[in-house]
Amino acid sequence: MNLPLRIFCCVLLSASFGACSSYKKKGAVKTGAVKTVSNSDYRTPTLTGAVPRNPDMRLTAGFSAAAGVTQSRGPTDRQIVAMTFDDGPHPQNTPRLLDILRARNIKATFYVIGRSVDNYPQIVRRIVAEGHEIGNHTYTHRNLTKLSDSEMLRELTRTRDSIVKASGVQPRTMRPPYGALLQRQRAMIHQDFGYPTVLWSVDPRDWQRPGPSVVTSRILTNSHNGAIILAHDLHSPSVDAMPATLDGLLRKGFKFVTVSQMIAMKEASVLASTDTPSTGS
Ligand code: NI
Repeated sequence: MNLPLRIFCCVLLSASFGACSSYKKKGAVKTGAVKTVSNSDYRTPTLTGAVPRNPDMRLTAGFSAAAGVTQSRGPTDRQIVAMTFDDGPHPQNTPRLLDILRARNIKATFYVIGRSVDNYPQIVRRIVAEGHEIGNHTYTHRNLTKLSDSEMLRELTRTRDSIVKASGVQPRTMRPPYGALLQRQRAMIHQDFGYPTVLWSVDPRDWQRPGPSVVTSRILTNSHNGAIILAHDLHSPSVDAMPATLDGLLRKGFKFVTVSQMIAMKEASVLASTDTPSTGS
């Protein structure tokens, strides 16, 4: 393990589980599911030769230090969002989503499960090759608050190693399954891995399978400047919702960044503000 120890300086941020729980019907969006077929012509890049990298904006090792250990949203002074997709890679849904993203030149962040990374390494390779970011979502998707420290760290280490083996990149952030992670655990992970704990500010509850048009409507209604939007590429209806969702966000004028890009922008905002404390989440 060659990760340098990060200076752990900020554990003030509070938890924000399921941050967005109001789904008002205001401004109902007229959208329907658009099925996108997989691009069968696409060839996954070979596993030899130079490996691609996570998009990085020249981030420093301690890039999240000023922005804080827990991240639920980015800076609100610009019209950006980060789309995040959890619980993949999935052999059909993830490639289909990648086609949808590629058609719009949108970069997203994938919180992958290590066990699935080992099953579908070529999909992880494709995610990275197409400019998306990979984050650590543990190896077996257990509730980390129920695990010992060594079990918790093992979940993250195994996943990191699987991601590196599959794609050559190191994840920079983690998201705990179910958003469940004790403050003490967050601090430990930040110190040992350098990972901020990334939650979200917009949750369409797509895992409950409300139907693609509902997922789209919830995301478009609740998205805001600096939103971190939660969705799951594990579920086919969630991917079905993405063409209308992404097109709707583009029409509203949002630009898409990855999570670590957003954190870096937030850090810059925090540092630029001399009298505003960091109270990110
Ligand atoms: Ni998950």
